[in-house]
Amino acid sequence: MLHEGEKVIDENRQGEAVMAPVPSTGSGRKLLLESYGCQMNFSDSEIVASILTEAGFTTTRDAEEADVVLLNTCAIRDNAEQRVRARLQYLRSLKSKKPDMVVGVLGCMAERLRDQLLEEEKLVDLVVGPDAYRDLPNLIETVDSGQKAVNVLLSREETYAEISPVRLNSNGITAFISIMRGCDNMCSFCVVPFTRGRERSRDPESVVREAQELFDLGYREVTLLGQNVDSYKWNLTSKGEVKEEGKEVVNFAQLLEKVALVNADLRVRFSTSHPKDMTDEVLHTMAKYDNICKYIHLPVQSGSSEVLKKMNRGYTREWYLERIAAIRRIMPDCAISTDVIAGFCGETEEQHQETISLMKEVGYDMAFMFKYSERPRTLAERKYEDDITEEVKGRRLQEIIDVQMQSAAMRTQAFVGKRQRVLIEGVSKRSDEQLFGRNSQNTVVVFPKGNLVPGTYVDVDTHSCTSVTLIGTAVQS
Ligand code: SAH
Ligand code: SF4
Ligand code: F3S
Repeated sequence: MLHEGEKVIDENRQGEAVMAPVPSTGSGRKLLLESYGCQMNFSDSEIVASILTEAGFTTTRDAEEADVVLLNTCAIRDNAEQRVRARLQYLRSLKSKKPDMVVGVLGCMAERLRDQLLEEEKLVDLVVGPDAYRDLPNLIETVDSGQKAVNVLLSREETYAEISPVRLNSNGITAFISIMRGCDNMCSFCVVPFTRGRERSRDPESVVREAQELFDLGYREVTLLGQNVDSYKWNLTSKGEVKEEGKEVVNFAQLLEKVALVNADLRVRFSTSHPKDMTDEVLHTMAKYDNICKYIHLPVQSGSSEVLKKMNRGYTREWYLERIAAIRRIMPDCAISTDVIAGFCGETEEQHQETISLMKEVGYDMAFMFKYSERPRTLAERKYEDDITEEVKGRRLQEIIDVQMQSAAMRTQAFVGKRQRVLIEGVSKRSDEQLFGRNSQNTVVVFPKGNLVPGTYVDVDTHSCTSVTLIGTAVQS
Protein backbone atom coordinates (compact mmCIF):
# COMPACT_ATOMS: atom_id res chain seq x y z
CA MET A 1 0.00 0.00 0.00
CA LEU A 2 1.10 3.47 -0.59
CA HIS A 3 0.99 5.33 2.66
CA GLU A 4 2.61 7.92 4.65
CA GLY A 5 4.26 6.87 7.87
CA GLU A 6 7.61 7.71 9.20
CA LYS A 7 10.26 5.12 9.63
CA VAL A 8 13.98 5.43 9.95
CA ILE A 9 15.75 3.09 7.66
CA ASP A 10 18.83 1.30 8.77
CA GLU A 11 21.69 -0.39 7.18
CA ASN A 12 23.34 -3.37 5.69
CA ARG A 13 22.57 -6.40 3.59
CA GLN A 14 24.48 -5.53 0.50
CA GLY A 15 22.74 -6.13 -2.81
CA GLU A 16 24.71 -6.72 -5.94
CA ALA A 17 24.49 -3.54 -7.91
CA VAL A 18 25.25 -3.96 -11.57
CA MET A 19 26.07 -0.37 -12.38
CA ALA A 20 29.46 0.90 -13.34
CA PRO A 21 31.30 1.47 -10.05
CA VAL A 22 31.86 5.05 -8.91
CA PRO A 23 34.29 4.29 -6.11
CA SER A 24 35.65 7.60 -4.91
CA THR A 25 32.70 9.71 -3.71
CA GLY A 26 31.88 7.66 -0.66
CA SER A 27 35.28 6.31 0.40
CA GLY A 28 33.89 4.89 3.61
CA ARG A 29 31.89 7.94 4.59
CA LYS A 30 28.84 7.22 6.68
CA LEU A 31 25.38 7.69 5.22
CA LEU A 32 22.11 8.03 7.11
CA LEU A 33 19.06 7.51 4.92
CA GLU A 34 15.63 8.22 6.37
CA SER A 35 12.37 7.55 4.56
CA TYR A 36 9.00 9.23 4.92
CA GLY A 37 5.78 8.61 3.01
CA CYS A 38 4.56 5.65 1.04
CA GLN A 39 5.99 2.24 0.26
CA MET A 40 7.19 3.62 -3.06
CA ASN A 41 9.55 5.90 -1.17
CA PHE A 42 10.80 3.07 1.01
CA SER A 43 11.42 1.07 -2.12
CA ASP A 44 13.24 4.02 -3.72
CA SER A 45 15.48 4.34 -0.66
CA GLU A 46 16.65 0.79 -1.37
CA ILE A 47 17.68 1.94 -4.85
CA VAL A 48 19.47 4.97 -3.36
CA ALA A 49 21.27 2.71 -0.88
CA SER A 50 22.37 0.50 -3.75
CA ILE A 51 23.72 3.43 -5.78
CA LEU A 52 25.56 4.90 -2.80
CA THR A 53 27.05 1.69 -1.39
CA GLU A 54 28.36 1.07 -4.89
CA ALA A 55 29.93 4.53 -4.68
CA GLY A 56 31.73 3.58 -1.47
CA PHE A 57 29.43 4.78 1.31
CA THR A 58 28.65 2.72 4.37
CA THR A 59 25.38 3.16 6.24
CA THR A 60 24.61 4.20 9.79
CA ARG A 61 21.47 4.67 11.89
CA ASP A 62 22.90 7.46 13.95
CA ALA A 63 22.60 11.08 12.81
CA GLU A 64 25.39 12.09 15.19
CA GLU A 65 27.96 9.92 13.42
CA ALA A 66 26.67 10.45 9.85
CA ASP A 67 28.73 12.32 7.25
CA VAL A 68 25.82 12.49 4.83
CA VAL A 69 22.15 12.62 5.87
CA LEU A 70 19.50 12.12 3.18
CA LEU A 71 15.79 12.47 3.89
CA ASN A 72 13.57 10.75 1.32
CA THR A 73 10.47 12.86 1.68
CA CYS A 74 6.71 12.89 1.06
CA ALA A 75 4.50 15.78 -0.05
CA ILE A 76 1.08 14.13 -0.06
CA ARG A 77 -0.41 16.24 2.76
CA ASP A 78 0.80 19.34 4.51
CA ASN A 79 1.51 17.47 7.76
CA ALA A 80 3.85 15.09 5.89
CA GLU A 81 5.92 18.11 4.89
CA GLN A 82 5.78 19.62 8.37
CA ARG A 83 7.32 16.48 9.81
CA VAL A 84 10.25 16.72 7.41
CA ARG A 85 10.72 20.40 8.19
CA ALA A 86 10.92 19.59 11.90
CA ARG A 87 13.59 16.99 11.18
CA LEU A 88 15.51 19.49 9.05
CA GLN A 89 15.47 21.94 11.97
CA TYR A 90 17.11 19.31 14.14
CA LEU A 91 19.71 18.54 11.46
CA ARG A 92 20.42 22.25 11.19
CA SER A 93 21.39 22.37 14.86
CA LEU A 94 23.53 19.26 14.40
CA LYS A 95 25.24 20.78 11.40
CA SER A 96 26.21 23.88 13.30
CA LYS A 97 28.43 21.56 15.37
CA LYS A 98 29.56 19.50 12.33
CA PRO A 99 29.86 21.91 9.40
CA ASP A 100 31.19 19.22 7.00
CA MET A 101 28.04 17.13 7.29
CA VAL A 102 26.09 17.00 4.01
CA VAL A 103 22.29 17.30 4.32
CA GLY A 104 20.11 16.36 1.35
CA VAL A 105 16.41 16.22 0.60
CA LEU A 106 15.24 13.52 -1.83
CA GLY A 107 11.83 12.40 -3.07
CA CYS A 108 8.52 14.18 -3.48
CA MET A 109 9.14 17.28 -1.38
CA ALA A 110 12.42 17.81 -3.22
CA GLU A 111 10.57 17.59 -6.52
CA ARG A 112 7.79 19.89 -5.38
CA LEU A 113 9.89 22.65 -3.81
CA ARG A 114 13.10 22.39 -5.88
CA ASP A 115 15.66 25.11 -5.17
CA GLN A 116 13.13 26.88 -2.98
CA LEU A 117 14.27 24.34 -0.37
CA LEU A 118 17.83 25.68 -0.56
CA GLU A 119 16.56 29.19 0.14
CA GLU A 120 14.09 28.24 2.84
CA GLU A 121 16.18 25.67 4.63
CA LYS A 122 19.52 27.40 4.46
CA LEU A 123 21.51 24.37 5.53
CA VAL A 124 20.21 21.93 2.93
CA ASP A 125 23.05 21.22 0.48
CA LEU A 126 21.39 18.86 -1.92
CA VAL A 127 17.94 18.54 -3.54
CA VAL A 128 17.28 15.46 -5.66
CA GLY A 129 14.01 14.39 -7.28
CA PRO A 130 12.81 10.77 -7.61
CA ASP A 131 14.09 10.24 -11.16
CA ALA A 132 17.60 11.60 -10.56
CA TYR A 133 19.08 9.14 -8.06
CA ARG A 134 21.71 7.81 -10.46
CA ASP A 135 23.23 11.28 -10.33
CA LEU A 136 23.62 11.23 -6.51
CA PRO A 137 27.36 10.36 -6.39
CA ASN A 138 28.13 13.27 -8.75
CA LEU A 139 25.85 15.64 -6.87
CA ILE A 140 27.48 14.77 -3.55
CA GLU A 141 30.86 15.47 -5.17
CA THR A 142 29.58 18.88 -6.21
CA VAL A 143 28.58 19.58 -2.63
CA ASP A 144 32.01 18.40 -1.45
CA SER A 145 33.54 21.03 -3.70
CA GLY A 146 31.64 23.73 -1.82
CA GLN A 147 28.58 24.24 -4.03
CA LYS A 148 24.92 23.43 -3.60
CA ALA A 149 23.52 20.75 -5.92
CA VAL A 150 20.05 20.28 -7.41
CA ASN A 151 18.70 17.72 -9.88
CA VAL A 152 14.93 17.50 -10.12
CA LEU A 153 14.62 16.39 -13.74
CA LEU A 154 11.75 14.00 -14.24
CA SER A 155 12.11 11.23 -16.79
CA ARG A 156 9.74 9.40 -19.12
CA GLU A 157 11.90 6.27 -19.08
CA GLU A 158 13.71 5.84 -15.77
CA THR A 159 12.59 2.73 -13.87
CA TYR A 160 15.93 1.81 -12.23
CA ALA A 161 15.11 -1.61 -13.70
CA GLU A 162 18.58 -3.16 -13.51
CA ILE A 163 19.59 -1.79 -10.11
CA SER A 164 19.45 -4.44 -7.40
CA PRO A 165 17.99 -2.73 -4.35
CA VAL A 166 19.89 -2.99 -1.07
CA ARG A 167 17.15 -4.36 1.21
CA LEU A 168 16.93 -1.96 4.12
CA ASN A 169 15.36 -2.70 7.48
CA SER A 170 14.52 -6.09 6.07
CA ASN A 171 13.12 -9.07 7.93
CA GLY A 172 14.54 -11.26 5.14
CA ILE A 173 11.03 -12.59 4.45
CA THR A 174 8.93 -9.86 2.84
CA ALA A 175 10.07 -7.31 0.23
CA PHE A 176 8.73 -4.66 -2.15
CA ILE A 177 9.25 -4.72 -5.90
CA SER A 178 8.54 -1.53 -7.78
CA ILE A 179 6.82 -2.36 -11.10
CA MET A 180 6.12 1.13 -12.37
CA ARG A 181 6.72 4.78 -11.58
CA GLY A 182 4.77 8.01 -11.84
CA CYS A 183 1.05 8.51 -12.38
CA ASP A 184 -1.01 9.76 -15.31
CA ASN A 185 -4.32 10.13 -13.45
CA MET A 186 -4.84 13.70 -12.51
CA CYS A 187 -6.98 13.19 -9.40
CA SER A 188 -7.76 16.79 -8.52
CA PHE A 189 -6.57 16.60 -4.89
CA CYS A 190 -3.30 14.81 -5.55
CA VAL A 191 0.26 16.07 -5.80
CA VAL A 192 1.79 12.77 -6.96
CA PRO A 193 1.61 13.44 -10.74
CA PHE A 194 3.64 16.61 -10.10
CA THR A 195 6.22 14.97 -7.87
CA ARG A 196 6.62 11.65 -9.66
CA GLY A 197 6.01 12.55 -13.27
CA ARG A 198 4.57 10.46 -16.07
CA GLU A 199 3.60 6.87 -15.64
CA ARG A 200 6.02 4.26 -16.97
CA SER A 201 6.19 0.51 -16.51
CA ARG A 202 9.22 -1.57 -15.75
CA ASP A 203 10.46 -4.42 -17.94
CA PRO A 204 8.55 -7.55 -16.82
CA GLU A 205 11.66 -9.70 -17.16
CA SER A 206 13.50 -7.58 -14.60
CA VAL A 207 10.50 -7.80 -12.24
CA VAL A 208 10.39 -11.61 -12.48
CA ARG A 209 14.17 -11.82 -12.09
CA GLU A 210 14.02 -9.72 -8.93
CA ALA A 211 11.25 -11.92 -7.51
CA GLN A 212 13.29 -15.06 -8.30
CA GLU A 213 16.41 -13.59 -6.67
CA LEU A 214 14.45 -12.71 -3.56
CA PHE A 215 12.99 -16.21 -3.38
CA ASP A 216 16.47 -17.73 -3.76
CA LEU A 217 17.66 -15.55 -0.86
CA GLY A 218 14.89 -16.97 1.35
CA TYR A 219 12.23 -14.29 0.93
CA ARG A 220 8.69 -15.67 0.87
CA GLU A 221 6.54 -12.66 0.02
CA VAL A 222 6.80 -9.84 -2.51
CA THR A 223 4.56 -6.79 -2.88
CA LEU A 224 4.38 -5.32 -6.38
CA LEU A 225 4.20 -1.54 -6.14
CA GLY A 226 2.73 1.17 -8.35
CA GLN A 227 0.37 4.14 -7.92
CA ASN A 228 -2.11 2.41 -10.20
CA VAL A 229 -0.97 -1.16 -10.83
CA ASP A 230 -3.95 -1.87 -13.10
CA SER A 231 -2.54 0.43 -15.74
CA TYR A 232 0.77 -1.48 -15.87
CA LYS A 233 1.57 -2.08 -19.50
CA TRP A 234 4.62 -3.38 -21.32
CA ASN A 235 4.91 -2.83 -25.05
CA LEU A 236 1.43 -1.30 -25.19
CA THR A 237 0.43 2.27 -25.93
CA SER A 238 -1.96 4.09 -23.62
CA LYS A 239 -4.69 3.19 -26.13
CA GLY A 240 -3.88 -0.50 -25.71
CA GLU A 241 -2.24 -0.93 -29.13
CA VAL A 242 0.94 -2.99 -29.56
CA LYS A 243 4.01 -0.76 -29.70
CA GLU A 244 6.60 -3.07 -31.25
CA GLU A 245 5.49 -6.07 -33.30
CA GLY A 246 7.22 -9.28 -32.29
CA LYS A 247 7.96 -8.07 -28.74
CA GLU A 248 6.13 -9.49 -25.74
CA VAL A 249 2.99 -7.65 -24.58
CA VAL A 250 2.25 -7.75 -20.84
CA ASN A 251 -0.61 -6.24 -18.85
CA PHE A 252 -0.95 -6.28 -15.07
CA ALA A 253 -2.88 -9.57 -14.88
CA GLN A 254 -0.19 -11.24 -16.97
CA LEU A 255 2.65 -9.77 -14.89
CA LEU A 256 0.93 -10.96 -11.73
CA GLU A 257 0.71 -14.46 -13.17
CA LYS A 258 4.39 -14.46 -14.16
CA VAL A 259 5.41 -13.49 -10.62
CA ALA A 260 3.02 -16.05 -9.09
CA LEU A 261 4.69 -18.74 -11.22
CA VAL A 262 8.15 -17.96 -9.80
CA ASN A 263 7.36 -20.38 -6.98
CA ALA A 264 4.18 -21.62 -5.30
CA ASP A 265 5.85 -20.83 -1.95
CA LEU A 266 6.33 -17.16 -2.84
CA ARG A 267 3.36 -15.08 -1.78
CA VAL A 268 2.47 -12.20 -4.06
CA ARG A 269 0.73 -9.00 -2.98
CA PHE A 270 0.27 -5.74 -4.85
CA SER A 271 -0.76 -2.14 -4.31
CA THR A 272 -2.48 0.12 -5.32
CA SER A 273 -5.47 -0.93 -7.44
CA HIS A 274 -7.57 1.78 -9.05
CA PRO A 275 -11.36 1.27 -9.15
CA LYS A 276 -11.65 2.68 -12.65
CA ASP A 277 -9.07 0.26 -14.09
CA MET A 278 -9.30 -2.93 -12.04
CA THR A 279 -10.34 -5.70 -14.45
CA ASP A 280 -12.04 -9.05 -13.94
CA GLU A 281 -8.97 -10.57 -15.61
CA VAL A 282 -6.89 -9.49 -12.59
CA LEU A 283 -9.50 -10.94 -10.23
CA HIS A 284 -9.56 -14.27 -12.09
CA THR A 285 -5.76 -14.45 -12.02
CA MET A 286 -5.85 -13.84 -8.27
CA ALA A 287 -8.44 -16.57 -7.82
CA LYS A 288 -6.41 -19.03 -9.90
CA TYR A 289 -3.24 -18.93 -7.78
CA ASP A 290 -3.22 -19.79 -4.09
CA ASN A 291 -0.02 -17.82 -3.61
CA ILE A 292 -1.56 -14.55 -4.83
CA CYS A 293 -2.88 -13.13 -1.57
CA LYS A 294 -6.59 -12.54 -1.29
CA TYR A 295 -6.35 -8.89 -0.42
CA ILE A 296 -7.12 -5.80 -2.48
CA HIS A 297 -6.48 -2.20 -1.54
CA LEU A 298 -9.11 -0.26 -3.50
CA PRO A 299 -9.15 3.42 -2.49
CA VAL A 300 -12.65 4.89 -2.76
CA GLN A 301 -11.90 8.47 -1.51
CA SER A 302 -15.63 9.35 -1.30
CA GLY A 303 -19.01 7.63 -1.44
CA SER A 304 -20.62 10.47 -3.38
CA SER A 305 -20.63 10.43 -7.18
CA GLU A 306 -20.65 14.22 -7.31
CA VAL A 307 -17.61 14.48 -5.07
CA LEU A 308 -15.86 11.72 -7.06
CA LYS A 309 -16.48 13.74 -10.20
CA LYS A 310 -14.89 16.83 -8.65
CA MET A 311 -12.02 14.64 -7.52
CA ASN A 312 -11.60 13.51 -11.14
CA ARG A 313 -11.45 9.89 -10.05
CA GLY A 314 -13.05 8.50 -13.20
CA TYR A 315 -15.76 6.37 -11.52
CA THR A 316 -19.10 6.74 -9.74
CA ARG A 317 -20.37 5.25 -6.50
CA GLU A 318 -22.29 2.66 -8.54
CA TRP A 319 -19.24 1.68 -10.59
CA TYR A 320 -17.18 1.32 -7.41
CA LEU A 321 -19.82 -0.87 -5.75
CA GLU A 322 -19.98 -3.03 -8.87
CA ARG A 323 -16.20 -3.57 -8.64
CA ILE A 324 -16.67 -4.61 -4.99
CA ALA A 325 -19.41 -7.01 -6.10
CA ALA A 326 -17.05 -8.46 -8.74
CA ILE A 327 -14.39 -9.09 -6.07
CA ARG A 328 -16.93 -10.81 -3.80
CA ARG A 329 -18.29 -12.85 -6.71
CA ILE A 330 -14.92 -14.08 -7.95
CA MET A 331 -13.17 -14.36 -4.54
CA PRO A 332 -15.67 -14.54 -1.68
CA ASP A 333 -12.82 -14.78 0.84
CA CYS A 334 -10.97 -11.65 -0.36
CA ALA A 335 -10.18 -8.87 2.12
CA ILE A 336 -10.69 -5.30 0.94
CA SER A 337 -9.16 -2.09 2.27
CA THR A 338 -9.49 1.52 1.19
CA ASP A 339 -8.47 5.17 1.50
CA VAL A 340 -11.01 7.87 2.38
CA ILE A 341 -10.74 11.67 2.33
CA ALA A 342 -12.96 13.67 4.69
CA GLY A 343 -14.01 17.25 3.89
CA PHE A 344 -13.02 17.66 0.25
CA CYS A 345 -13.89 21.06 -1.27
CA GLY A 346 -17.62 21.78 -1.07
CA GLU A 347 -18.49 18.40 0.47
CA THR A 348 -22.01 18.65 1.93
CA GLU A 349 -23.27 16.81 4.99
CA GLU A 350 -25.35 14.55 2.70
CA GLN A 351 -22.32 13.72 0.59
CA HIS A 352 -20.35 12.89 3.73
CA GLN A 353 -23.24 10.60 4.78
CA GLU A 354 -22.92 8.86 1.41
CA THR A 355 -19.32 8.02 2.32
CA ILE A 356 -20.49 6.65 5.66
CA SER A 357 -23.21 4.53 4.03
CA LEU A 358 -20.81 3.19 1.40
CA MET A 359 -18.34 2.18 4.09
CA LYS A 360 -21.09 0.38 5.99
CA GLU A 361 -22.22 -1.35 2.84
CA VAL A 362 -18.74 -2.56 1.84
CA GLY A 363 -17.52 -3.45 5.35
CA TYR A 364 -13.81 -2.80 4.82
CA ASP A 365 -11.19 -4.91 6.56
CA MET A 366 -8.96 -1.88 6.87
CA ALA A 367 -8.84 1.78 5.86
CA PHE A 368 -6.52 4.75 5.76
CA MET A 369 -8.53 7.87 6.52
CA PHE A 370 -7.47 11.47 6.02
CA LYS A 371 -8.66 15.04 6.31
CA TYR A 372 -8.43 16.81 2.96
CA SER A 373 -5.24 18.85 2.72
CA GLU A 374 -4.98 21.34 -0.12
CA ARG A 375 -1.85 20.90 -2.24
CA PRO A 376 -0.28 23.63 -4.36
CA ARG A 377 -0.59 23.32 -8.17
CA THR A 378 -3.27 20.62 -8.06
CA LEU A 379 -6.51 21.02 -10.00
CA ALA A 380 -8.50 21.29 -6.77
CA GLU A 381 -6.29 24.11 -5.53
CA ARG A 382 -6.81 26.04 -8.74
CA LYS A 383 -10.49 25.32 -9.25
CA TYR A 384 -12.21 24.78 -5.90
CA GLU A 385 -12.23 26.45 -2.55
CA ASP A 386 -10.94 24.51 0.46
CA ASP A 387 -14.08 25.61 2.29
CA ILE A 388 -14.74 22.92 4.88
CA THR A 389 -13.52 24.11 8.28
CA GLU A 390 -10.92 22.16 10.24
CA GLU A 391 -13.54 21.50 12.86
CA VAL A 392 -16.00 19.95 10.39
CA LYS A 393 -13.23 17.98 8.66
CA GLY A 394 -12.20 16.64 12.07
CA ARG A 395 -15.73 15.65 13.04
CA ARG A 396 -16.41 13.93 9.71
CA LEU A 397 -13.09 12.10 9.89
CA GLN A 398 -13.96 10.87 13.37
CA GLU A 399 -17.32 9.56 12.15
CA ILE A 400 -15.54 7.74 9.33
CA ILE A 401 -13.02 6.26 11.78
CA ASP A 402 -15.82 5.10 14.11
CA VAL A 403 -17.59 3.23 11.31
CA GLN A 404 -14.32 1.69 10.20
CA MET A 405 -13.40 0.46 13.67
CA GLN A 406 -16.67 -1.42 13.92
CA SER A 407 -16.29 -2.92 10.51
CA ALA A 408 -12.67 -3.99 11.10
CA ALA A 409 -13.63 -5.68 14.38
CA MET A 410 -16.41 -7.59 12.61
CA ARG A 411 -14.14 -8.68 9.80
CA THR A 412 -11.49 -9.94 12.24
CA GLN A 413 -14.10 -11.73 14.34
CA ALA A 414 -15.33 -13.56 11.23
CA PHE A 415 -12.00 -15.46 11.00
CA VAL A 416 -12.19 -16.78 14.57
CA GLY A 417 -12.62 -20.55 14.74
CA LYS A 418 -11.21 -20.97 11.25
CA ARG A 419 -7.87 -22.49 10.28
CA GLN A 420 -5.51 -19.93 8.73
CA ARG A 421 -2.45 -20.49 6.55
CA VAL A 422 0.16 -18.12 7.96
CA LEU A 423 3.55 -16.98 6.70
CA ILE A 424 5.59 -16.51 9.89
CA GLU A 425 7.31 -13.11 9.93
CA GLY A 426 8.88 -12.92 13.36
CA VAL A 427 8.58 -12.77 17.13
CA SER A 428 5.52 -10.97 18.47
CA LYS A 429 6.14 -7.50 19.92
CA ARG A 430 4.24 -8.40 23.07
CA SER A 431 5.99 -11.65 23.99
CA ASP A 432 9.17 -13.54 23.05
CA GLU A 433 7.22 -16.77 23.42
CA GLN A 434 4.80 -15.83 20.63
CA LEU A 435 5.32 -15.61 16.90
CA PHE A 436 3.35 -13.53 14.44
CA GLY A 437 2.59 -13.72 10.76
CA ARG A 438 -0.23 -12.91 8.36
CA ASN A 439 -2.91 -14.87 6.64
CA SER A 440 -3.56 -14.40 2.95
CA GLN A 441 -6.01 -11.57 3.77
CA ASN A 442 -3.20 -9.68 5.54
CA THR A 443 -4.65 -10.05 9.05
CA VAL A 444 -1.99 -10.48 11.72
CA VAL A 445 -2.10 -13.84 13.50
CA VAL A 446 -0.30 -14.48 16.81
CA PHE A 447 0.43 -17.94 18.24
CA PRO A 448 2.84 -19.75 20.64
CA LYS A 449 6.30 -20.29 19.24
CA GLY A 450 6.84 -24.03 19.75
CA ASN A 451 9.75 -24.96 17.48
CA LEU A 452 8.52 -22.94 14.54
CA VAL A 453 10.74 -20.47 12.68
CA PRO A 454 10.13 -17.24 10.74
CA GLY A 455 10.09 -17.54 6.95
CA THR A 456 8.04 -20.76 6.97
CA TYR A 457 4.33 -21.44 6.55
CA VAL A 458 2.13 -22.89 9.26
CA ASP A 459 -1.57 -23.59 9.75
CA VAL A 460 -3.00 -21.86 12.79
CA ASP A 461 -6.33 -22.67 14.46
CA THR A 462 -7.68 -19.34 15.65
CA HIS A 463 -9.63 -19.23 18.90
CA SER A 464 -10.00 -15.52 19.70
CA CYS A 465 -9.11 -12.03 18.53
CA THR A 466 -8.57 -8.41 19.42
CA SER A 467 -10.04 -5.81 17.07
CA VAL A 468 -7.36 -6.34 14.43
CA THR A 469 -5.34 -9.41 15.49
CA LEU A 470 -6.18 -13.11 15.47
CA ILE A 471 -4.94 -15.35 18.27
CA GLY A 472 -4.54 -19.10 17.87
CA THR A 473 -2.41 -22.22 18.11
CA ALA A 474 -0.26 -23.72 15.40
CA VAL A 475 -1.25 -27.09 13.99
CA GLN A 476 1.99 -29.04 14.36
CA SER A 477 2.50 -31.71 11.71
N1 SAH B 1 -2.37 6.05 -6.07
C1 SAH B 1 -3.19 5.80 -4.97
C2 SAH B 1 -3.06 6.78 -3.83
C3 SAH B 1 -1.77 7.38 -3.47
S1 SAH B 1 -1.80 8.61 -2.23
C4 SAH B 1 -4.63 5.84 -5.44
O1 SAH B 1 -4.95 6.43 -6.42
O2 SAH B 1 -5.44 5.32 -4.74
C5 SAH B 1 -2.51 7.75 -0.87
C6 SAH B 1 -3.76 8.35 -0.36
O3 SAH B 1 -3.53 9.63 0.19
C7 SAH B 1 -4.86 8.60 -1.39
O4 SAH B 1 -5.55 7.44 -1.70
C8 SAH B 1 -5.72 9.62 -0.71
O5 SAH B 1 -6.70 9.02 0.10
C9 SAH B 1 -4.74 10.36 0.19
N2 SAH B 1 -4.48 11.71 -0.32
C10 SAH B 1 -3.88 12.05 -1.45
N3 SAH B 1 -3.87 13.40 -1.59
C11 SAH B 1 -4.48 13.91 -0.49
C12 SAH B 1 -4.78 15.23 -0.04
N4 SAH B 1 -4.47 16.29 -0.78
N5 SAH B 1 -5.41 15.37 1.14
C13 SAH B 1 -5.74 14.29 1.87
N6 SAH B 1 -5.49 13.03 1.50
C14 SAH B 1 -4.86 12.83 0.33
FE1 SF4 C 1 -2.75 10.50 -6.95
FE2 SF4 C 1 -4.86 9.70 -8.29
FE3 SF4 C 1 -2.43 9.06 -9.16
FE4 SF4 C 1 -3.40 7.95 -6.96
S1 SF4 C 1 -4.22 7.68 -9.03
S2 SF4 C 1 -1.37 8.79 -7.24
S3 SF4 C 1 -4.59 9.58 -6.05
S4 SF4 C 1 -3.30 11.11 -9.04
FE1 F3S D 1 4.47 8.59 -1.90
FE2 F3S D 1 4.21 10.80 -0.55
FE3 F3S D 1 5.41 10.84 -2.86
S1 F3S D 1 2.71 9.24 -0.71
S2 F3S D 1 4.57 9.17 -4.03
S3 F3S D 1 6.08 9.76 -1.02
S4 F3S D 1 4.02 12.35 -2.11
